[in-house]
Amino acid sequence: MIRKTDFLVIGSGIAGLSYALKAAEHGHVTIITKKNIQQSNTALAQGGVAAVFGKQDSVDLHVADTLKAGDGLCDPDVVKMVVENGPERVRELVDLGARFNMAGTGKFDFAMGREGGHSVKRIIHAHDLTGREIEDALVARARENDNITILEDHVAVNLITFSSSVRSGILVTQYENFCCGAYVLNNTTGRVETFHAAITLLATGGASKVYLYTSNPDIATGDGIAMAYRAGASVANMEFVQFHPTCLFHPKAKNFLISEAVRGEGAVLLDARGRRFMENYTPDRELACRDVVARAIDSELKKTGAESVFLDISHKDPGFVRQRFPNIHARCLEYGIDITTDPIPVVPAAHYMCGGVATDLNGKTDVQRLYAVGETSCTGLHGANRLASNSLLEALVYAHSAYLDSARELPAIKKNMDINLAPWDETDTTDSDEAIVVSHNWDEIRRLMWNYVGIVRSDKRLQRAARRIKSIQDEINEYYWDFTLTSDLVELRNIVTVAKLVIQSALQRKESRGLHYNIGYPEREDNRFLAPTVLKKRF
Ligand code: SIN
Repeated sequence: MIRKTDFLVIGSGIAGLSYALKAAEHGHVTIITKKNIQQSNTALAQGGVAAVFGKQDSVDLHVADTLKAGDGLCDPDVVKMVVENGPERVRELVDLGARFNMAGTGKFDFAMGREGGHSVKRIIHAHDLTGREIEDALVARARENDNITILEDHVAVNLITFSSSVRSGILVTQYENFCCGAYVLNNTTGRVETFHAAITLLATGGASKVYLYTSNPDIATGDGIAMAYRAGASVANMEFVQFHPTCLFHPKAKNFLISEAVRGEGAVLLDARGRRFMENYTPDRELACRDVVARAIDSELKKTGAESVFLDISHKDPGFVRQRFPNIHARCLEYGIDITTDPIPVVPAAHYMCGGVATDLNGKTDVQRLYAVGETSCTGLHGANRLASNSLLEALVYAHSAYLDSARELPAIKKNMDINLAPWDETDTTDSDEAIVVSHNWDEIRRLMWNYVGIVRSDKRLQRAARRIKSIQDEINEYYWDFTLTSDLVELRNIVTVAKLVIQSALQRKESRGLHYNIGYPEREDNRFLAPTVLKKRF
């Protein structure tokens, strides 16, 4: 059976949902999401949304901070567009029902938090559960919208693309690749279904599960990036993986982040002997940008052989700490750490993919009818290092511009949808009796990426990783065509693709900039590398 829809939205975080709510005013929207609709990276975002509301703040200041963090690689037009549009998109969130911490009685009189790299307080937040607040509001609005169908437990497998010839000028015929939906694994039935869509939006979030240690949930397997790459879209800046400096270090705590807002409220970093060390690395100390803080911690750990460093906010009033960080306080207590009195053991972990599917100012990829928004995209906002709390902002602003552009294009595309899509071909596949191969490969890829493609890199380590990833990928491809699809296999195929793209991009950038640090080339080289790294599949 072929399911038709106007807008196919893949992913249910802030990017997908805010786009879907607007697109639903123009046509039918189908949202497919891998687990339940609330499981997304957005829901785990603690810090908040950076936007210019404060009296001490201005568009110019926010632009300058973003450019500085991006270390020469941001697209200035994109930065300006996002920063200028941010406040309006945040006001819309409030109108949709999201509730943020307030400083006064005005509707938009927000209390502002501070995070690394920001020269003023500009983080709009809901205690330390900002993402959950936003996600809940958007999910509630999506559920009550008759023009939106939500399909949970549906895993996108591949985008469906066609090539058509297009006349450009008098003599030149070009071939244009366009997307008309996706093959999607229905996890309840185990069948792959065909979705025929006028517009397809990738909003699948991050890819940090490609690393052994990450702040991300299990779903962050880079599905959008891998599918877009396979479909012929350009993918950019994949070498810039952001490691968050402070994830909780505890054997029982999986993926738990200690928000940068904790440092914004005055927490300090200590070594195992209780000494502050950040001043040895940068005058901005704990409030330097993430790349700098994560590298400093990595260096301390390597120097001392300690398993973690410590984040200490115990000098602050306990009542304030409990009220400002209720979630972090409660979660740490579960592990026997009272953050009002004890330093918190922390280590860096993979947190955010600054690279992704390359888009224009409308969130449009170079495959026609295919858009990418949020962490899965690379818009040019983050450059070589994302400024804290600019990610939810980017998702909101680009969901809006992608919505405007795609709603404009919809009527013409709908007149031109007479294509017969082939159903998914399962001929000659059998059920796998060796699921262990999948889990071994998962583990090996994530360990390899952590050990050889981490915070500090070298050509030798990257080349070793490239060789090993190639042979794992060959094995997975063989497996993929021979056995019936499962969601684990779909994700495995995606993380190996993402791993390959990160390594290839890192090998191309023979300099150190932002989040990419190669000991063989420790300096930034503006003469040679002041452009994004772009990868595109050759067919
Ligand atoms: C944090 O709360 O530290 C994460 C916010 C972000 O990644 O921007």
